Amino acid sequence: MRIIRSIKKLRQFVKNAKRKGKTIGFVPTMGYLHEGHLSLLREAKKDCDICVVSIFVNPIQFGPKEDFSRYPRDIKRDKFLLKSAGADIIFYPSIKIMYPPGFLTFVVIERLSDVLCGNSRPGHFKGVTTVVTKLFNIVQADIAYFGQKDIQQSIIIQKMVEDLNMPLKIKLMPIVREIDGLAMSSRNVYLFPQQRSDAVILWQALKKAKQMINMGERSSQAIISSIKKLICTKKRVRIDYIDCVSIDNLTSLRKLKGRVIIALAVWIGKVRLIDNIIVRA
Ligand code: PAF
Repeated sequence: MRIIRSIKKLRQFVKNAKRKGKTIGFVPTMGYLHEGHLSLLREAKKDCDICVVSIFVNPIQFGPKEDFSRYPRDIKRDKFLLKSAGADIIFYPSIKIMYPPGFLTFVVIERLSDVLCGNSRPGHFKGVTTVVTKLFNIVQADIAYFGQKDIQQSIIIQKMVEDLNMPLKIKLMPIVREIDGLAMSSRNVYLFPQQRSDAVILWQALKKAKQMINMGERSSQAIISSIKKLICTKKRVRIDYIDCVSIDNLTSLRKLKGRVIIALAVWIGKVRLIDNIIVRA
């Protein structure tokens, strides 16, 4: 496994690999890796000859009051995990390389970026789509892998790839959960023990929503108010949003029909957690 910090060196590596007819799989990350990231790498290894994982905590996707400076980082541990899981390349650029002085260009996917998490985190998806575009241009992968945990991000990136004719495929992989159901996230490390046990309520709420839909409930209002009530049994948990949206365009639904995402974001102390399920109604 090689660690490459320069764009030029990575491009050279990719050019050589492509000349030999190799396919490239790409897993973009912000590091502090967990089993969710490694599941993306394993899938990439099944599909592609060479797997590139990027580690870059992207400053422009964090709001001014968000956790950019304290976002967990442990490159030594990440290197070890990626080597054990069989990554070929870690692309680990500096902020200065990605955003040199005078950087002025941003990629915005309209409407999809303003709802759900985009409503609570203005500018977040503009930062994501900008960095992902840069990474796609640098890595030139055949397939890029994203986790369902950040379902809105994946849908926005899929739309960006279609709209801008980017020559790669996006593969969405299932959420990897802890034994008690909490979706794996680098931010789970922020949770104090009591908060960690409260956090299971997200998964319990989503399971309840699914159960209601399976029993025939189609009113999003009924589902949302029922899971709101469940979440509110935890005193330390504050709801940011709960919504039932169409998987095609992320619009809120009054009556559930077809493939639907039940998505939620909650605050537990200073930690904001998101989770979702895709159901067929
Ligand atoms: O999902 C993430 O970790 C980030 O948003 C991504 C896609 C690596 C862009 O910084």
